[in-house]
Amino acid sequence: MSHLKFIATTTFGLEATVKREVQRLGFENITVYDGAVYFDGDETTIPKANINLRSSDRVLLIIGQFKAFSFDELFEKTKALNWQDWIPKDGNFIVTGKSIKSQLYSVPDCQSIVEKAIIENLKKKYKINWFEKTGAKYKIQVSILKNEATLTIDTTGDALHKRGYRSSAVIAPLKETLASALIELSFWKKDRVFLDPTCGSGTIPIEAAMIAKNIAPGISRRFISENWGNIPKEVWKDAKIKAYSEIDINFKPEIYASDIDPKAIEIAKHNAVNAGVDDCILFETKALKEISLKNDYGVCICNPPYAERMGELKDVENLYKDMGKIFRKNKTWSFYTITSHENFEKLYGKKADKKRKLFNGNVKIDYYQYFGAKPPKSN
Ligand SMILES: C[S@@+](CC[C@H](N)C(=O)[O-])C[C@H]1O[C@@H](n2cnc3c(N)ncnc32)[C@H](O)[C@@H]1O
Repeated sequence: MSHLKFIATTTFGLEATVKREVQRLGFENITVYDGAVYFDGDETTIPKANINLRSSDRVLLIIGQFKAFSFDELFEKTKALNWQDWIPKDGNFIVTGKSIKSQLYSVPDCQSIVEKAIIENLKKKYKINWFEKTGAKYKIQVSILKNEATLTIDTTGDALHKRGYRSSAVIAPLKETLASALIELSFWKKDRVFLDPTCGSGTIPIEAAMIAKNIAPGISRRFISENWGNIPKEVWKDAKIKAYSEIDINFKPEIYASDIDPKAIEIAKHNAVNAGVDDCILFETKALKEISLKNDYGVCICNPPYAERMGELKDVENLYKDMGKIFRKNKTWSFYTITSHENFEKLYGKKADKKRKLFNGNVKIDYYQYFGAKPPKSN
């Protein structure tokens, strides 16, 4: 079981960000495809990747990959894989599927064939005909792309954006994984001032504080594979102890977060306490237009409303104009924002230095990036 292959799944546009994270964690043989970063590892990779990846959605364990042009081929090749190494006699396994540009296009048929093939494989090992499925959960996926089938088991369970600290949220909260990716894509370093003036439930500043203090995103949650019998409990324990030992408890980043809505600030404060970073974020109820930039070389990353609903457009456009008025004035500040509004740059009053296409859920957005002057090097 020592040589294993994995996929860290990503939202469209975040592949390079997740690849960098996978590299930083020391995993090898990395290849990138749309929405997926492949890498090699062993059983210790399962806790390490799940606990530490900030921008990936989930970590899948690859059981096999092969060409499949017929149901017979899918059945036989699936049956021949090492399911018995992973699924115990009482394993509660379910199969989901997807098929894109492939001869085997009926997903329900593919799922049921894969399930039958796995049962045949397990029957041989356990010498039983009926599986009670009363034990740990195994979420298997058959994914067929251009006639190449990839069979995986999900090691994550609840997706990785569910860190566990956000007990309540405002309308339209940002996924924690996307918030973290926006920070990773910026030039912010932990010694620079950070600001989110439309912080809502606090996701972006909380993720920034966790990065600054090196708090692993999955440190206080559980993962589906923690219940798998064949990964020794020690492996999980060691990965968690390591993550705790790497927290920089004494580092206090300078992070400011504000919102016009006092209820949002109440929620954000509560979430920051849950995340263990309330000591380094200064929350304030404040309209964006009241912000004055006191320090130099700060970085603002925000997720303002986009006005998906009629009637809000004027307010949102005025908000974007106010952003321009405040942040264009100070040439040392860097300003980053996401929105689906096509005329953002015009309203802000300046063309972005860089623009990146991303998705916030199903909504196509642009990540507008305005780079301020580089801070002087400290000696
Ligand atoms: C899309 S939400 C932000 C969600 C946040 N990133 C999260 O994860 O919860 C936009 C936020 O902008 C705030 N907002 C709207 N107009 C504002 C203004 N003029 N000044 C400051 N905040 C404003 C709203 O109250 C709302 O909380």
